[in-house]
Amino acid sequence: MQLPTHGSNPHYLYKALGIEMPQSYVDFSANINPLGPPSSIKQRWSGFFEGILDYPDPHAVELTHMIAKKEALPEDSVLVGNGGAEIITLVAKELANKRVLIIQPAFAEYAESCLAAGCEVDFFQLEAPRWELDLDRLRPLLPKYAAIFLCTPNNPTGISYKEETVRELIEACQKAQCMMVLDEAFYDFTDNAFSYAPLILKFPHLLILRSMTKIFAIPGLRLGYLLADPTIITRAKTFKPHWSVNHIALEVGKLCLAEEAYMSRTRAYIQRQKRDLFRFYKELDIEVSESTVNFYLVRDESLSLFPFLLKKGIVPRHTYNFPGLDGRWLRFAVKSEQDNKALMEAVKQWKTLGSIL
Ligand SMILES: Cc1ncc(COP(=O)(O)O)c(C=O)c1O
Repeated sequence: MQLPTHGSNPHYLYKALGIEMPQSYVDFSANINPLGPPSSIKQRWSGFFEGILDYPDPHAVELTHMIAKKEALPEDSVLVGNGGAEIITLVAKELANKRVLIIQPAFAEYAESCLAAGCEVDFFQLEAPRWELDLDRLRPLLPKYAAIFLCTPNNPTGISYKEETVRELIEACQKAQCMMVLDEAFYDFTDNAFSYAPLILKFPHLLILRSMTKIFAIPGLRLGYLLADPTIITRAKTFKPHWSVNHIALEVGKLCLAEEAYMSRTRAYIQRQKRDLFRFYKELDIEVSESTVNFYLVRDESLSLFPFLLKKGIVPRHTYNFPGLDGRWLRFAVKSEQDNKALMEAVKQWKTLGSIL
């Protein structure tokens, strides 16, 4: 049985498991802003039409300028891509045929892209349920690698590693002449939207990856970017297909960057929902990860919650392809209040059933 290696598109999951897909379902497997895209996008949508008659700007000049301004970084430290996924592919090409280390659990694309680029890929496993970064164990390994990958806030656990530990790791990588790829795809969802991006000015071996698809709820449109030393950006550009970011994505990106209030509203909403959800799980004595973002892990050693929810039209993200989690944890996006309530009701039913049987 080959399960999909990503969330979203749940019909693939139902098909792989041979479970009939209910007429209606709620997809908790993709970590997208529950407020939906900013309303300014819909209002301006028809205005984007004219632009599709021409090729998009291959250098994304205006959006690059806006990102650089927002991040307080020079424009030549920014590369706009077709989602964070394209950025990962470009970084992997940069590392082609070298040896890399992936700190996991982590997003599966790092390994897939690096393997496709001919890299030798090793893994450094963090232990559940706290997934703490053990620098004493990690530091001596660094000189063996051309690059390490770290995802913080982490997908799939949702935890943010301690700031002083990450800073120490950035410095240790610099000393070991090992590149550090820091994936901040979810940083906008954290309470204080804390980022390591300013450090790229001091540490030329540091690469920061960002996604705009999650926070602005535009996964079907695709937008992300890389922040790094200009020499890395220049090389990454040589691997990038010329017009990989389409005109509508570029226009939407410019609108999104002005949406400060929408982002604060999102963070407040997620926090409120998580408070209710985590209180609920605690009352039912169900273990969850210490998430700082818009998704979290739920522990189920019995492996029964996953099929139970799928049959009810509630789609979690399985973790069978995350070594160390092995399906014994399920990942859920924080969705609308109504959807979260439906999830809690279903989990309660499952728990009650388990105690009867
Ligand atoms: C940690 C992480 N990085 C990068 C990406 C890719 O983001 P995008 O959807 O912008 O391609 C994802 C997508 O799920 C992700 O979870």
